Order: sequence, then structure tokens, then C-alpha cells
Amino acid sequence: MLDEAAIELNYHNHESAFDWQQVFGDAAPVEIEIGFGKCGFLISMAADQPDKRFVGIETSRKYYRKGIRKIQRADLTNVKLLLGEALHLLGRYIPENSLAGLHINFPDPWPKKRHAKRRLLSPEFVEVAAQRLLPAANFALATDMEAYMIDALIALRGNAQLEEIFATNSRECEMPRRYSSEYEREFFSAGKTLYYATFRKKP
Ligand SMILES: C[S@@+](CC[C@H](N)C(=O)[O-])C[C@H]1O[C@@H](n2cnc3c(N)ncnc32)[C@H](O)[C@@H]1O
Repeated sequence: MLDEAAIELNYHNHESAFDWQQVFGDAAPVEIEIGFGKCGFLISMAADQPDKRFVGIETSRKYYRKGIRKIQRADLTNVKLLLGEALHLLGRYIPENSLAGLHINFPDPWPKKRHAKRRLLSPEFVEVAAQRLLPAANFALATDMEAYMIDALIALRGNAQLEEIFATNSRECEMPRRYSSEYEREFFSAGKTLYYATFRKKP
């Protein structure tokens, strides 16, 4: 069984951004999923793409602990988890121009107008995230909330570092996707329209 310490990416006592070569011991491409929840999407990607390295970021300690156990059971050596708030961790510990991909599936919707400021996909977040991507790397977002996607598209389209690849919904695109998250499967089975967007960092 994999040691927990091999999965936990500890940033306490870390003064600067990670060096992925040091973290993973090689120069393989690194992708991040933010808010991995029950970890199904992250584990599917990591199991399917052993040539890549994956990092999951999650604020919930409960999901973080569960994620560690699931990764141990799946015996995956190419995934590590970070416990904390995504914008803070990206800005402080993830090197600029270092990620081969970024995935955000069904971020907390904060549907009430007065709570909209709490949504993850702010223009500030998009700027910090885009800086972390390598040129030509993708930023992929999925949500079940049309209003969330509309605001996110304003932030994503307004970012000078990114270009749009597509924005679509589950009635237009081929479903299910190659990998799916727990929320996605639940919403899809319930017949909800789901919204997807992929942007790419300009060269
Ligand atoms: C609605 S759930 C979706 C979980 C999973 N992605 C899925 O699709 O099944 C949103 C997740 O994002 C996490 N989260 C919310 N805000 C976050 C933040 N700022 N940084 C990291 N994770 C966050 C929550 O703890 C929760 O697990």
C-alpha cells in the first residue's frame, strides 16, 4: 500500500513555488484538478494516463482524506493532493508556465446573486490560473449552472492570455465525456443540461 506521505503534497514550511521535477522525480507533464470532491475524475485521468502527473486541490478535509485512501487503493503513483484554497495555492505554490492542463468540474455554484462574489471563476482567478498554464495548455470548465457559465465565459473571454476552443452544453456535445465526475454523472442521469467550456493558453 502506498504511503500517505507519498500522496500528500505538503506546502507548510515551503517558502516558494514547487519544483515539479523535485515533487515527482521526473519531467513529465503536470495537470491540476481543482475541487476534486469524491475524486472519481482525478483517479480516472491518472489511471488512464500514467505518463502524466496529476495534482488535486481541495478545500474539504473530508474529501482530501477520502481522496488519499482512494489513491492508495488504486495504487496510483502519479497523483498528489493539496489541501487548501485554490486561488491562494495557485498563486503561491504553483509555478508560472508549468501546467499542461487545468480542470474544474462543477465548482460550488453560489446561485444567490449576493453570494456570486464567492464563486471561484473570478477574473482574478482566471488571470492567476492562466499564468500557471504552459503555452497551448487547456483550461477546462464544467458546470450545471447556465448563469455561472455565462459569468465564467465573460472572465475567460476577457483574459488576454487565453483563447476559446469551445463552449457547449450536453445537448450539443457527445456525452458522456471521456472522464466524468460524480456530480456530472448525477446531474446527467437526472437529465439536467450541463455546460462545458475549454480555453487554451495562447502560444
Ligand atoms: C460541487 S463540488 C464538485 C466536486 C467534483 N468536482 C465533482 O464534479 O463531482 C465542488 C468541490 O469544490 C471544492 N471547493 C470549493 N471551493 C474551492 C476552492 N476555492 N479551492 C479548492 N476546492 C474548492 C468543494 O469542497 C467541493 O468538493
